[in-house]
Amino acid sequence: MRNLFPVSGLVLSVALIGAGFVSTFAADETLRSYAEKNGIYIGAILNSQWFGGGLPSQYEQVHKTQFNIVVAENEMKFDATEPSENRFNYNNGDKMVRYAKQNGMRVRGHALAWHSQVPNWVNNYKNDKKKLLSVLKNHIDNVVGHWKGQVDEWDVVNEAISNNEPQWRTYSVWYQGIGPEFIDSAFVWAHAADPNAELCYNDYNLEQGVNPKAKAGFLLEQVKRWVANGIPIHCVGSQTHVEDTTTDKHFIGSPDSLRSLARELAKLNIKLKITELDIGFKSGINVSKSDLERQGQTFRQYLDIILEEPNADTYLIWGVSDKWSWLGGLNRQKGLIYDDNLKPKPAFDSILVRLQNFEPPQDTVAADTTANDTTVTDSTGLDSTIVIRQTAGPGSVTMHVAGRTLFIAGAKSAKVDVFNMQGRPVFSTKCEKGSIELNGISDGLYMVRVRSGSASLVQKISIK
Ligand code: G3I
Repeated sequence: MRNLFPVSGLVLSVALIGAGFVSTFAADETLRSYAEKNGIYIGAILNSQWFGGGLPSQYEQVHKTQFNIVVAENEMKFDATEPSENRFNYNNGDKMVRYAKQNGMRVRGHALAWHSQVPNWVNNYKNDKKKLLSVLKNHIDNVVGHWKGQVDEWDVVNEAISNNEPQWRTYSVWYQGIGPEFIDSAFVWAHAADPNAELCYNDYNLEQGVNPKAKAGFLLEQVKRWVANGIPIHCVGSQTHVEDTTTDKHFIGSPDSLRSLARELAKLNIKLKITELDIGFKSGINVSKSDLERQGQTFRQYLDIILEEPNADTYLIWGVSDKWSWLGGLNRQKGLIYDDNLKPKPAFDSILVRLQNFEPPQDTVAADTTANDTTVTDSTGLDSTIVIRQTAGPGSVTMHVAGRTLFIAGAKSAKVDVFNMQGRPVFSTKCEKGSIELNGISDGLYMVRVRSGSASLVQKISIK
């Protein structure tokens, strides 16, 4: 949550040296601290070398200091968790879950149903729809069930849409053996296995607009259908593996196009998450300082979507340091925010400075104290545009915050609900004596709703 008041005691010393931008941030000014102040998740993969213990200790130090969400690069995929039929291996996933819990991080599970990294034994059943359905259900029941309550969100289905003329990816054992309805079933089974996990559809090249000819346009039509049919989907993951603007137009995506997808999904009450971000340069070219600074601006533009769109909350980068990145396999390089020596690149600075200076867009918070209606909609009970409305009622209810004490006047007893700026409930209680302590809530900006009889008041407050 963004703190309305300057964070005292933290001094940002910035020195502009020549054309470069060399910054020194106070030790406790981390991506993580500002992500948490803004009520979002910023993270990176734990790559396969981490699981094998082959990394310098600095990698983990950077990871747990800077990030508050984590996902395994390969270790929770089908081939890793069920290498042979009905024989499950959770060791690496358990190691990551332990690490995440020790460091207070959210956990993404990746990925339950994907055409890639499927163990060979599954392909033996590609012509037996009934068996293939039971194989997929058994996998989801066991894997999601094993980490129930520990993995906060799952990529239930990954990359089911083809890259060419938008249609289903036919090169997939699940599609070939079951048909596209494997997707609906996978979500239903995952939800049954862990009703509290957020369930995502994840794919790449979704940053090219939502027109029907674009992949995101085809996906949007499917999401509308899944939502209409009551399929328990909660989010779309945009992998966002994009290439720097000056090298290759083929893969070019744009932040604005991805934002348009976020806004269409918001109409369906579906979240957008950036789940595998890297912004690479073509392998073999010389990457200059100005290229790296431009890359930083592109990283920031994608972060703006997460900060500014109410249904976006996750900014996850597919690696920490350029030294350990899958990008070489895509004939790309230098796509991450730390260099080969685990030193922050300009992209790190761009992200951190943006987080420090982010002001929630005021046009999303319109004070309308004349309205006589209580506007509480959607599942969180808050209008997603975060409109402040006060119900003029007998002995109007008023509230104000001093420190962590919320004072309520004009009501003998009131129901108090506190939401973060993404509209997620973070605190609820009943107030019988005119004031309550907002304990257990971290510093930052929140929306408080006070209801008493027919009176209802929603107000933005800052806790510090
Ligand atoms: O584990 C074996 C090891 O035993 C063997 O010695 C070694 C050499 O053959 O291969 C190792 O497996 C590799 C695996 O990564 C683990 O390191 C596979 O060959 C290699 O293909 C696999 O690549 C992963 C790729 O997914 C597979 O499609 C990348 O690390 C991983 O970054 C990448 O991640 C995907 C996301 O899951 C989905 N979105 C796209 C993204 C990039 O492709």
